[in-house]
Amino acid sequence: MNILFNENSKQFHLYNEKFSYIMKILEDGELVNLYFGSKIDDNEDFSYTILTQSRAMAIYSPENNHKYNFTTLNREFPDYGTGDYRYSAFEIEQENGSRITCFKYLSHKIFAGKKPLENLPATYTENDDEAMTLEVTLQDELINTQIILSYTIFKDFSALAKSVKFVNNSEEDLFLNKALSMNIDLPDSDFDMMNLSGAWSRERQINEGKIRHGYQGISSTQGTSSSEQNPFISLRRPNCTETSGEVYGFSLVYSGNHIEQVEVTPHGLARVSVGINPLFFKWHLCAGESFQTPEAIVVYSEDGLNGMSQTFHKLFRTRLARGPWRDKERPILLNNWESTGMNFTEQQIVDMAILGKDLGVELFVLDDGWFGGRDDDKRGLGDWYVTDFNKLPSGIDGLAKKITDLGIEFGLWFEPEMANPDSDLYRNHPEFIIQAPNRKMSLGRNQLVIDFSNPKVVDYIYDMMYKILSTSNISYVKWDMNRYISECYSLNLPADKQGEVFHRFVLGVYDLYERLITAFPEILFESCSSGGCRFDAGMLYYAPQAWTSDDTDAVERLKIQYGTSMLYPVSSMGAHVSATPNHLTKREVSFKTRGDVAMFGAFGYELDVTKLTDEEKAMVKEQIAFLKENRKLLHQGDFYRLVNPFKNKDCAWAVVSEDKKEAIVAHYQILMDANSLNKFLKVEGLDESQKYTINSGEKLYSGKELAKIGIPLTFNDTCTSDTDFTSHVFHIKAEF
Ligand code: DGJ
Repeated sequence: MNILFNENSKQFHLYNEKFSYIMKILEDGELVNLYFGSKIDDNEDFSYTILTQSRAMAIYSPENNHKYNFTTLNREFPDYGTGDYRYSAFEIEQENGSRITCFKYLSHKIFAGKKPLENLPATYTENDDEAMTLEVTLQDELINTQIILSYTIFKDFSALAKSVKFVNNSEEDLFLNKALSMNIDLPDSDFDMMNLSGAWSRERQINEGKIRHGYQGISSTQGTSSSEQNPFISLRRPNCTETSGEVYGFSLVYSGNHIEQVEVTPHGLARVSVGINPLFFKWHLCAGESFQTPEAIVVYSEDGLNGMSQTFHKLFRTRLARGPWRDKERPILLNNWESTGMNFTEQQIVDMAILGKDLGVELFVLDDGWFGGRDDDKRGLGDWYVTDFNKLPSGIDGLAKKITDLGIEFGLWFEPEMANPDSDLYRNHPEFIIQAPNRKMSLGRNQLVIDFSNPKVVDYIYDMMYKILSTSNISYVKWDMNRYISECYSLNLPADKQGEVFHRFVLGVYDLYERLITAFPEILFESCSSGGCRFDAGMLYYAPQAWTSDDTDAVERLKIQYGTSMLYPVSSMGAHVSATPNHLTKREVSFKTRGDVAMFGAFGYELDVTKLTDEEKAMVKEQIAFLKENRKLLHQGDFYRLVNPFKNKDCAWAVVSEDKKEAIVAHYQILMDANSLNKFLKVEGLDESQKYTINSGEKLYSGKELAKIGIPLTFNDTCTSDTDFTSHVFHIKAEF
């Protein structure tokens, strides 16, 4: 890994073992991209990649030189307004109303390591030799404003971290109407685009197709990253598969409104840009102030989609997630939500915990309904100090003690960003709510959104949460968020700052998280938003796991977990065995299949263990024993998608240890075909020359055999997938 700067050709070459990223400063200071792809050796000058033919109707840079036309120039951080007619990466409005800017190269810095981003989640290094960073400063002389483009290249990850800082050194106030985190102009557009779209309980479904001339993209406008569109897209070559071919992945490390767009020009160039959604965004950048964008991660893979995903997984798991829980084995938990909802008694909870402990559970999580009169979702949110003593006579501290005395941990549910109109918080501080003057406040799930753009409000919530977390023995927090934002306006901000509320809200959420994880580093935080409606890379910086979806139907979960695995690691996906028939789909799925799906996640149970049959209890014990034995491999091994449930009637995936000596492979038969051919499951990632056993059987198979022929699925004594919704797990171990 290195970052070279060639003084003569004014060229930057960022490279590691996997890719090269090459830029050049043109004569007039314009920063352009020359190449981004497979690693190539350095060359004095790559500027032959610039298309220099003159084009009718084009505007040139510089104007008196008909060499570089804006129509086909691959610009690093483009404006709109000076002759480049594609979508821009930023827009700065000046006091005189002009939005024309002209940023040219001023200086650059190259250094080892990576700086943290101010108040924002970001990837990090533990030692300076893990990465190198280039900061290029561009300047608009007229408004004495700088844009600092930051590029970090990692030694061990085929990934580039990009972010941007706007610095207003002028005497005049400016408005940032748009401030994206990155732009890359690719020299062709022969790509298929993939994104993860969905809805509540149907999160992160794979959506893909060829990119076309014109503008295409995804965004969220909900105030959070949303289940509608995850902040991620990939562009892959048409011949790219799960295991081979070129793909670029783009992920925004951010939990608010976002945009990921691709614009294909009439000449077939592809402009990709990612950042905060400019809709409803307007940042008042006062004289002397600066604005830092969130970070975007760009992954390059020549090993297909699995290669891209594995890079994201490892980077997010080891250099985005933080704290003591980053590398620790995650506790197997039992959550009461799907079995009791808000109607429970202390005794019921304790009984579940006692039996759970017997079965091997390590953490009991008390979900929604433990505070002020909350028998339904119409009241109580915001009053985190009002324990419901009718339900919990011993209070939260007493219940926590009863549960931890059993020898298991205790966890608690919160929804810090919300208040019901029927709450003390709302009665005492109606001004704490997001609301526009004289407009109605729309309710969602009977609740209002608290104004986290106001630091005083964040302090208020922090104090309440601090009190309960410091007085009860709580080692896990489930942080929920059950509605999106509407009527986005803060009573705490002046008119000229109302375009900042969405972003400031996210900064407030990050601030509360940061303060809580600092005060309680040993607590494991799991983020949640009506299931997986805020499952994003930004959240992983604070909470290393997230509740993947309220849809716990094992069959539906296959698609949800498969889609989620495009960039998020197994260890980050909360996955629980729930009761059957499933509360959403009414589908009956065997206990085994439910367990076999959930084990590829941060595992737990979401059912009333006291209602299980003896046979089911025995299965819980067996599943937990397997998980305890193998969770390190499941969470930290290399994950391979093997069979795509979006395209087949079955699904399969595998986790392979780094040394390739062990793998856990799962195959799920969603629907059976009658009279079908024998099936084999080809396993990726093993050492081809190594011999392996399957489920401790006597027969040995070479890694190559398992990759090229596969595990026989439909005959002999290995297994038979003989009905709908069945599954098989194969534990593959090297002979020595
Ligand atoms: C939505 C979450 O996704 C559920 O798991 C549960 O915590 C409920 N909220 C509680 O209201």
